[in-house]
Amino acid sequence: MHTISDYQRYFLEYLSKKTITKEPKNLYEPISYILNLGGKRLRPILVLMASEIFGGDYKKALDAALAIEVFHNFSLIHDDIMDDAPLRRGKETVHEKWDINTGILSGDAMLINAYQLFENYEGDTFRELAKLFTKTAIEVCEGQQYDIDFETRDDVTIPEYIQMIEYKTAVLVGAAMSMGAIVANASEDCRSSIYDFGKLLGLAFQLQDDYLDAFGDPKTFGKQVGGDIIENKKTILYLKALEFASEDEQKQLRELFSLSPNDPSQKIDTVKDLFETTGAKDKTRLEIEKYTNKAFSVLETLSITEDKKAILKSFGEQLMNRSV
Ligand code: IPE
Ligand code: IPE
Ligand code: MG
Ligand code: MG
Ligand code: MG
Repeated sequence: MHTISDYQRYFLEYLSKKTITKEPKNLYEPISYILNLGGKRLRPILVLMASEIFGGDYKKALDAALAIEVFHNFSLIHDDIMDDAPLRRGKETVHEKWDINTGILSGDAMLINAYQLFENYEGDTFRELAKLFTKTAIEVCEGQQYDIDFETRDDVTIPEYIQMIEYKTAVLVGAAMSMGAIVANASEDCRSSIYDFGKLLGLAFQLQDDYLDAFGDPKTFGKQVGGDIIENKKTILYLKALEFASEDEQKQLRELFSLSPNDPSQKIDTVKDLFETTGAKDKTRLEIEKYTNKAFSVLETLSITEDKKAILKSFGEQLMNRSV
């Protein structure tokens, strides 16, 4: 096993070898722009890490790791169009820097590139990877559609929300880990347990993302703070606030989430106050902890050494307390 920062370095070296810009520039420049903007590289690190946890060699997992990161970055370009987001990783989003059409097509090419990377695997490994990828990619689309549908609904429940974030975010984290296990030829049982671990960690990860969207530090967060409030996203903060609000506060929240004012700063301030006074902010932290601990309990069922479990746990803890 290597350290997390080793895996990150190996991945970045591989990425820089593989990104080339060719003609037409307006198709390929946005691709290398988004892929080189930075980011935590959480998913490819998990692919490499999982492959070595199950006794494989991380080098064989590099193409799967790259496929997952390319897919993730494709989904971010399209997500930023759908969410009307100006900032990504502290820089202009692709559709702001170029335009929406460019973002759509460069994103499409990235999705195809991701598929292509699996062609570097043979036989059963190729088939298993491609199958898991296809299933995951369509679920991400379903999750993204629910996310958009929920913007204009006022009766979203917490179970519906959890289902939505499972699809839009968590299944890709599960798939990343499972792909590492596939490349390492791990047993069915191991693949499915590590998938469940990744998925639960992915749920905690999206809850934390919702939290930071409102309460992150604008200087370091890298995205527009308050973006979810502007877009009337039915996040965990909003749903927990409704659950614990008085009747008056509920009315106020629903009203605010039916508006899209030209200057949203007042709306953002009021909503954040409500997230605090209703206790939603604290309840969200508890939910993040709950899902992280659920992930850790799946780890107990895995027959891997204690030091490997400890590495996965410390990674989970870092995610739960991150500020970016
Ligand atoms: C952002 O993912 C999209 C979500 C699923 C929350 P990350 O927070 O992993 O984004 P980067 O890749 O580190 O920028
Ligand atoms: C994004 O969820 C999930 C996908 C990109 C599939 P968000 O819309 O919350 O992600 P951010 O906050 O823009 O990174
Ligand atoms: Mg978004
Ligand atoms: Mg979104
Ligand atoms: Mg978000």
